[in-house]
Amino acid sequence: MNKILILFAHPRFEQSRTNKALVQNVRHKKGVTFHDLYEQYPDFHIDISYEKNLLEEHDVMIWHHPFYWYSCPPLMKQWIDLVLEYGWAYGPEGNALQGKKCLQIITTGGSRKVYCSEGRNIYTINEFLRPFEQTARLCGMEYLTPFAVMGTHYLKTADLETFSQQYVKIVDFLLEDKSLSDIKNCVFQTDIPDYTKLAAK
Ligand SMILES: Cc1cc2nc3c(=O)[nH]c(=O)nc-3n(C[C@H](O)[C@H](O)[C@H](O)COP(=O)(O)O)c2cc1C
Repeated sequence: MNKILILFAHPRFEQSRTNKALVQNVRHKKGVTFHDLYEQYPDFHIDISYEKNLLEEHDVMIWHHPFYWYSCPPLMKQWIDLVLEYGWAYGPEGNALQGKKCLQIITTGGSRKVYCSEGRNIYTINEFLRPFEQTARLCGMEYLTPFAVMGTHYLKTADLETFSQQYVKIVDFLLEDKSLSDIKNCVFQTDIPDYTKLAAK
């Protein structure tokens, strides 16, 4: 069984609707360490050696956060800047994360339709997430296809339940080291959204 570390960053979790629903069924799962960065570090003083130890103890790292200004909330960026040190995470002798898996899970206010060349945001979610993808790659990690819950303002309670169950399934697959591409009824990101396929899923 793999061990999963969920690095969760939401600056206003008490007001959250979508992420609250997403995390409820995964945070206490066996094999999962749910690490709420804003709860642990409200003053932004990240304990770097503690974070490195945590990473070393896990096989899969999940970056889970709402999408803020086409990126992550500031504490997640702070975590990346401070924890992924040269000589440890990357560089000639920096191989602590080699071979681990990295999955990014985000929620966006914008719907899927606005994240494409014809849409308001021009670029796809994958394009916006390139810096994260390359960061994981530079550290020798396998960056999995991101999972995005989109158009959060329009989601009904039943939708939230569906996505929450999909998250559980994703975690189950990762725990068992199974390929996420084998999950049915679960929409991951592709560079060019194919609406026919999305509708059929
Ligand atoms: C400061 C801020 C920046 C945001 N930036 C974006 C953005 O760039 N793109 C987007 O689609 N939604 C954006 N949103 C909307 C959030 O992603 C959305 O409200 C959140 O994912 C909903 O999850 P929650 O109910 O758990 O808070 C932003 C929201 C805030 C508060």
